[in-house]
Amino acid sequence: MSQHPSSTSPGDAPVASAAARAGAAAASSASVPGQGGRRLDRWVGTYAQRTASMTASEIRALFAVANRPEVVSLAGGMPYLPALPLDAIAELSARIVAEKGAQALQYGSGQGEERLREQIVEVMRPQGIAAHPDDVVVTTGSQQALDLVSRIFLDPGDVVLAEAPSYVGALGVFRSYQAQVEHVPLDHDGLQPAALEEALVRLRSQGRRVKFLYTVPNHHNPAGVTLSLERRRAVLDIARRHDLLVLEDDPYALLGFDGDPLPALRSMDAEHVVHLGSFSKTFAPGYRVGWAVAPHAVREKLVLASESAILCPTSFGQFAIAEYLATYDWKGQVKVFRELYRERRDALLAALEAHLPQATWTRPAGGFYVWLTLPGGLDAKAMLPRAVTGRVAYVPGGAFYADGTGGHSLRLSYCFPTAERIAEGVRRLASVVHDELEVQQLFGSPGDRHPHRDQGVVNPGPELA
Ligand SMILES: Cc1ncc(COP(=O)(O)O)c(C=O)c1O
Repeated sequence: MSQHPSSTSPGDAPVASAAARAGAAAASSASVPGQGGRRLDRWVGTYAQRTASMTASEIRALFAVANRPEVVSLAGGMPYLPALPLDAIAELSARIVAEKGAQALQYGSGQGEERLREQIVEVMRPQGIAAHPDDVVVTTGSQQALDLVSRIFLDPGDVVLAEAPSYVGALGVFRSYQAQVEHVPLDHDGLQPAALEEALVRLRSQGRRVKFLYTVPNHHNPAGVTLSLERRRAVLDIARRHDLLVLEDDPYALLGFDGDPLPALRSMDAEHVVHLGSFSKTFAPGYRVGWAVAPHAVREKLVLASESAILCPTSFGQFAIAEYLATYDWKGQVKVFRELYRERRDALLAALEAHLPQATWTRPAGGFYVWLTLPGGLDAKAMLPRAVTGRVAYVPGGAFYADGTGGHSLRLSYCFPTAERIAEGVRRLASVVHDELEVQQLFGSPGDRHPHRDQGVVNPGPELA
């Protein structure tokens, strides 16, 4: 095997043995899900059927190792919060408690604070969305909005159409409502409308109940692509002709590197689209504040569903965000994030070109993610323990598919590590890939060694979403 200087350092031995232990833990937890293989769950016959799909990823243990400082993690999708004006946020938080504490720490409205809903209408304006504050439901992150939409639309066995690949956190929600996900391919211009229509017609002709299309149109997680304007029109045309609801999940719209965002699907059709937004990527995920904009009747059901789940979204978080939007140059801060992420995207693409030219990957125009397809049909999940031992981490592609495919791809996030760390991470990844290719040359293709299809990575954990 070839030697790469970056793969040896004093930190190697502990990472290697910890990765091996984590690999063993992953193997044993796979034998008795959720129990680490050591003791049985006395309630195992009592759980609702829907929990059958709620299994922790067998590679979670590996990611615990991947979070160690000597590992360059290109896995997690965490925004780079050290770039926030933390002093100003501390000051406005203290002011809210001192001046409005009795309201900000009280229960609030199930739909969300009116002041914040008015501001959300303004936040969405660059995407051409002309909504009224009454159309907006504030949620506990857009993740809760995904849950609420699923709760009011999905019965067991219903079908959700979703891009291949799709956001892992949405797949987990759909699965938890016992829905079936049918994937529609995407390419560099996003979801393919012809394939969408073909799938919809085919499934409905089979009597399947297709409830909605789930799509991430801007700076897709995990694919890094953006749905072109022409395709936005085509998708909506299909939605109208076939009476299909579109769930537009859009947390990255304002993080584009090349100018203004494209018009949102919701801006072109208010009847067929439920639009989701979030402050997690443009401000801070710790507040857990997102929103849904929906046609009137849907909006009413969302509020009732949310009240039964959580009574009301966080009052303090909403007050804090409303104050931040009103008193801080939040648009300037989004620009700071954009410039930071652009520099890191450039570092990642340059490193891939320099060190891993045998692979193929997407070129994101914003957001956090690059989608990479390995050369030689290598299996990203099988390779992960060796990558972590080589002190680099990623999320294997199977996590983003409901049908067990995607095993030859992986997601790389450039949002958190510095440009230098990203370059080092890619050098390490390339070293692992080159070693794998050598093994393949000696012992045959990964298909021969791993004849099974990848079963997908279920719920790899919030920090990796
Ligand atoms: C596409 C997409 N949707 C939704 C979410 C959930 O975001 P939050 O609940 O923090 O708003 C994420 C987070 O990574 C995401 O990438």
